[in-house]
Amino acid sequence: MDQQMFEKVDGYISQLLAPEDEVLRQTIKSLDEAEMPQISITANQGKFLQVIALMCNAKKILELGTLGGYSTIWMARALPADGKIVTVEFDPHHASIARKNIENAGLLEKVDLRVGKASEVMEQLKESGEINFDLIFIDADKPPYKEYFEAALDLARPGAVIICDNVIREGKVLDENSSDDRVAGVRRLNQMLSENTKVTATILQTVGAKEYDGMAIAFVNK
Ligand SMILES: C[S@@+](CC[C@H](N)C(=O)[O-])C[C@H]1O[C@@H](n2cnc3c(N)ncnc32)[C@H](O)[C@@H]1O
Repeated sequence: MDQQMFEKVDGYISQLLAPEDEVLRQTIKSLDEAEMPQISITANQGKFLQVIALMCNAKKILELGTLGGYSTIWMARALPADGKIVTVEFDPHHASIARKNIENAGLLEKVDLRVGKASEVMEQLKESGEINFDLIFIDADKPPYKEYFEAALDLARPGAVIICDNVIREGKVLDENSSDDRVAGVRRLNQMLSENTKVTATILQTVGAKEYDGMAIAFVNK
């Protein structure tokens, strides 16, 4: 099995179960047009987040790391009419492109896009009592993943699901002496997950159109 096979199978699954409509295709295109990195999740991963959102009856979702709004759109589409997703983006240029894409998707009413640092916005949410999120998707900068997860725990309702993307990093996570601060960051998260009694967690390896990686998935114990 090689990368080519993973990509072909990813295409097969996407075609069957996660076909992109014009809005999602345009969102991906907008990243090139705005000279932004093509680091959105894949269509299959978007569908995976939708399925999880439905499984936990998500009415309130928090996302860290919006980029162009691709994953935001997938998750927002799983919300009920009165549902809301708060999505946090540090880079104002990324946020402005995301806003356009979210508007193009007809989802402005369901999406609360906050421009700022994930840690600061999470602190504000906690202070203002905007808590009890049903689903939290962590996909921002990797070095502080452990701290993001711990802050997310304060914002999640019992029974919520927290998902963290990119926690395997092409297997580099096995290197305990890695000088890459993203690898060190996700290693600290993964270690914490193994010790934290507030959650029941595991990690799914992900292969497909993007490089080999993994998603941590945690249930907030009731
Ligand atoms: C991997 S991309 C997000 C991809 C997006 N979730 C998707 O799949 O469509 C990570 C994003 O996090 C943003 N980011 C980086 N550091 C951040 C921080 N401290 N707070 C909030 N956002 C941050 C980056 O600007 C970038 O747009």
